[in-house]
Amino acid sequence: MCGIIGIVGKEQVADRLVDGLRRMEYRGYDSAGVCTVEGGQLIRRRAEGKLGNLVIELARNPAQGLIGIAHTRWATHGAPTTSNAHPHATEQVALVHNGIIENFKPLREALTARGRKFESETDTEVVAHLVSEQVEAGLSPQDAVKAVLPQLRGAFALAIAFRAHDDMLIGARLGSPLVVGYGEGETYLGSDALALAPLTQRITYLEEGDWVVITREGAQIFDTDNNEVTRPIVASGATAAAIEKGNYRHFMQKEIFEQPVVVAQTLRSYLRRVEQTVALPQIDFDLASINRVTIVACGTSFYAAMVAKYWFEQFARLPVDIDVASEFRYRDPVLEEGGLSLFISQSGETADTLAALRHCKAAGQTIAVVVNVPTSTMAREADLLLPTHAGPEIGVASTKAFTCQLAVLAALAAHLAVKRGRMNRAEEAAIVEHLVEVPAALNAALAHDEEIAAMAHLIAPARDVLYLGRGADYPLALEGALKLKEISYIHAEGYASGEMKHGPIALIDELVPVIVLAPSGPLFEKTVSNMQEVRARGGKVVLISDAEGIAEAGEGCLATIEMPKVHPLIAPLVYAVPVQLLAYHVAVAKGTDVDQPRNLAKSVTVE
Ligand code: G6P
Repeated sequence: MCGIIGIVGKEQVADRLVDGLRRMEYRGYDSAGVCTVEGGQLIRRRAEGKLGNLVIELARNPAQGLIGIAHTRWATHGAPTTSNAHPHATEQVALVHNGIIENFKPLREALTARGRKFESETDTEVVAHLVSEQVEAGLSPQDAVKAVLPQLRGAFALAIAFRAHDDMLIGARLGSPLVVGYGEGETYLGSDALALAPLTQRITYLEEGDWVVITREGAQIFDTDNNEVTRPIVASGATAAAIEKGNYRHFMQKEIFEQPVVVAQTLRSYLRRVEQTVALPQIDFDLASINRVTIVACGTSFYAAMVAKYWFEQFARLPVDIDVASEFRYRDPVLEEGGLSLFISQSGETADTLAALRHCKAAGQTIAVVVNVPTSTMAREADLLLPTHAGPEIGVASTKAFTCQLAVLAALAAHLAVKRGRMNRAEEAAIVEHLVEVPAALNAALAHDEEIAAMAHLIAPARDVLYLGRGADYPLALEGALKLKEISYIHAEGYASGEMKHGPIALIDELVPVIVLAPSGPLFEKTVSNMQEVRARGGKVVLISDAEGIAEAGEGCLATIEMPKVHPLIAPLVYAVPVQLLAYHVAVAKGTDVDQPRNLAKSVTVE
C-alpha cells in the first residue's frame, strides 16, 4: 500500500526521496509524487504509473530543496491518475497520506461550502485544505495540525510540508505505521524502516495517535492528548542489502530460494535440539487451560491458519475456529471466556486483521500473534509474540513468510499437544526430528526448479486452472491457486479433492489443467480416484507427489513433480515450494510483473 517518506536534510532531497520510494515499490502502487520546499514555494512533481515516469518528470522539471515529502499511491478513492497522486497541496501546505479518511465526504462538503476548491477525487485532499485553513487563519504549523487531527476519522499516516517553513515537517499516525529516522543533522519520516535503510539505522516507531515535528535537530513527539512524549530510539536492523535481488531475477524467486535458510532460522528459536523439545516464549497464561482457539488472518496468512487448524485439532485435540479477518469482525463471533485468539500476518499491519485483534482484545481474549515484522503494530499489541524470522519479504506474493508461519504453527501445535497431555516425550522428540528435517526437504523440493520452469509453458496458455488437495494439503491447493492468479492473472481455484465432483468437475476439459497435490499416505487412494474422474473427462493432470505416489498414479499425467517423502506434518511446508515455483515460472513465461502484480498491495492497511 501507499509508501511515505519525508526528509528534512542538509543536502538536496529529490533523488533521495525517489530512492526511498523505490524501496517501498514492493508495497504495490499505481502513481507517485514528490514535493520539496524551496524559497518559500512548494515544488510538486507527480506522475501516474511506475516510478520511472516520476523520474522522467523530475528530469524535465527538477525539484530543488533541502526538505521534502514523497509518496507512492495505491488508489482507494479516485482513479490512479496524476491529479489524484500525492502530494496533495494548497498554496500553503502539501501532504502525503497512507490510509483512509472515512469521514472525508462531510468534511469535503463543509470545505466546499466554505469556498475551497478541490483538484482531486481523493479523501486526502480534505486534510490539505483543513490544515491550510488553519495556517491561513494565522496558526503555527503545530497548532494547525493539532486543530485538524481530532476532526479526522479512519486510518492514516501523514507527512505534511509547509510553504513558509523550510526547516520542518510534521508527521502523524493513527492506524497506519510511521517511523522517525535520525541522521547527522538530518531527520526523516518513513512508512517503514526499510525505506530509511540507506539513510539511518536509528529509528523511532510512533505509537497510535502520535504526531511529530521533525527538524534538522531531531524530533518532538506528542501523543493524542498533545502531551510531549519520549519514544525509544531503536536500531532498525533493516539493511539496504536485505532488499536487493542479488543474483536472482525477481524478489519472489530469491525469497522462494531463501526458504531452507529462513525456515531453519525460524525453527531454531522454537526447537531445543539437544533436549528434543519445543520451546515457546514465556507467557503469563496457562496454555493448558485453553478450550478453544480462534485463528484470524487474511490472504496467504489465512491459508497458514487453515493448515494450523488441521494440526491443532489432530495433535492437540483442541477445537479451532478460523476465519478471514474481514468477515470475522463483522459476524459477531462467539468468543469463549479465557480463550486464545491467534492472528497470523506477515506485515503485522493488515487493517482487517488488526481490527479483529483489537475486537478480541476488547472481548477479554488472550492475544497471540505470528508476525514477520517484530516492530509491527500487531507485535506490539499482543500478549504472546511468536515471530517468524523470514527477513524482509519484498515480492507481493507471499512465499517465505508462509512457510515460516507454518514452521511456527507446527511448533505451536506440538507445544499445545504437550501442554494438554496429548503428546508424550517420545512423540514430541519425533516431531522435533521431523521439523529439523524441513530445511533439507525444502532444498530437495527446490531442486525441481528447472523441471518446473520447463513445464510452465503447459500451464501458461490456460484460462482456468484447478488445484486439488486433501487434509492439510487442501489449504496448499488454495494457496497454489492464489499464487497463480496473483502473479500470472490466470483464473485459478483451489478445491478439496472430494469437493470437485460437487461443481468444478463441470469445468473440466482438455483446456483446464488440474494440479493435484497428493503425498502418498492414507488419503492418497481417494485423491487418485478424484484424479481419475478428471482424466475420464479429458482433463490434464499435473501430479505433485512423492516417488511412491508417482509410481502408483503418475502414468497418463500431463506432468509429474516428485517431492521428497516426508512426514504428513511437514508436507504442507514442502508442497508449498512446487506451487510457488509453478506460479513463478508461469508468470515469467507470460511476462507479467512478478514482484509488483497489477492492483495488488503487499500490506493492505485499509479495510
Ligand atoms: C496482501 C498480500 C498477501 C498477503 C495478505 C495478508 O493481500 O498481497 O501476500 O498474504 O495481504 O497480509 P499479511 O501481512 O497480514 O500476512
